[in-house]
Amino acid sequence: MNHLTDKNILLGVTGGIAAYKSAELIRALKKLGAHVQVITTPAAESFITPLTLQALSGNPVRNSLLDPSAEAGMGHIELARWADLIVVAPASADFLARLVHGFANDLLSTVCLAATCPIAVAPAMNQAMWHNPVTQSNMAKIAAFPHILVCGPAAGEQACGDVGYGRMEEPCDIAAFITRYFTPRHAPQQLAGQHVVISAGPTREAIDPVRYLSNESSGKMGYALAQAALDAGATVTLISGPSALTPPAACTTVNVVSAQQMHSACLAAAATADVFIGAAAVADFRPAHQQEQKIKKGRSASMHIELIKNPDIIADVAQLTPKPCVVGFAAETQNVEQYALGKLQAKNLDAIIANDVSDKNIGFNSDQNAVSIITHQGTHRIAQNHKHAIATSIIHHISQLQASH
Ligand code: C5P
Repeated sequence: MNHLTDKNILLGVTGGIAAYKSAELIRALKKLGAHVQVITTPAAESFITPLTLQALSGNPVRNSLLDPSAEAGMGHIELARWADLIVVAPASADFLARLVHGFANDLLSTVCLAATCPIAVAPAMNQAMWHNPVTQSNMAKIAAFPHILVCGPAAGEQACGDVGYGRMEEPCDIAAFITRYFTPRHAPQQLAGQHVVISAGPTREAIDPVRYLSNESSGKMGYALAQAALDAGATVTLISGPSALTPPAACTTVNVVSAQQMHSACLAAAATADVFIGAAAVADFRPAHQQEQKIKKGRSASMHIELIKNPDIIADVAQLTPKPCVVGFAAETQNVEQYALGKLQAKNLDAIIANDVSDKNIGFNSDQNAVSIITHQGTHRIAQNHKHAIATSIIHHISQLQASH
């Protein structure tokens, strides 16, 4: 079922480099069935043209407080009444400051003040601006308003070259946030009362104090599963390797770095788990000896690092008594389902989610995935979709499996 069908979403776009992502957000919302109207601030139009936003939303873009073309000349009131939800993405530091103080000096801030529907903001700014105590004080005030919802920001590389918090959440993540807002609270709580433990992200295996072995995992799939499990009513423990993502606030997050740390954290949490999902891309090997000092280049044309095998976390979880329902992932580049089936049996799993990582449009680092859920009963294929949608389907299948566990 599509929870955005016929929802009226008023998208406010403020001035920031992330404004170009608003175009993608409009597409995602339209695809989910929503009607979208767009308001821009003057600064936003330096970053994205109204024509692009108009073409994608299918509606004229509004930017003027005094709009003679609006019925009764009160565009702000009409727009405020029309919206089921106002979404401001990107929300600049300036806009957030004006919002929190009730300014009404342009169309967007006036509509926000006139609206009776909730307002979701997706902050986007330089990390120093985000961490500034003035912005943080504004955000604390925003948190105290029950009608304002905050999505993000995420951490990562910024357009200005800085790294840190302040990146706007990706359009698909904002769309998922909005979908969750419209998902009826009485949606089936298939995992109510269950403890779900999820491993996510990569591990880092230190070579010396500044170097490590790792892999391409972003953590997106595991984090999406954590949110989907929360949505299904579960208590969630997320055990995450290094990731730029912000974990869902409602889960308990344990941050780890190495496979050995992830092993200890997973086994401890799995002792009380009803479901364990191994979505982490655990490094198979680690350097046999971690050097205490940085290794010098030296004169030799080659060097050897001896590697030893890491513990297989999910296989060890599957040996526990009582055993939770154990679900693994198999990222393969060929014979995907066949290899996955082999792992299902070898690791004593209840299900394995197979995906083809040779396809660059899906899998590692992508927002999209396409998977096969393989159980001892058979295979269920899920077509390419956002990782959030895939996660919801996977959680639904796991809840059915869990019921028969
Ligand atoms: O054997 P392979 O690494 O392909 O298996 C993938 C599955 O096993 C994933 O669910 C992954 O999280 C889990 N795994 C693990 N510990 C390892 C290696 C993989 O839990 N050391």
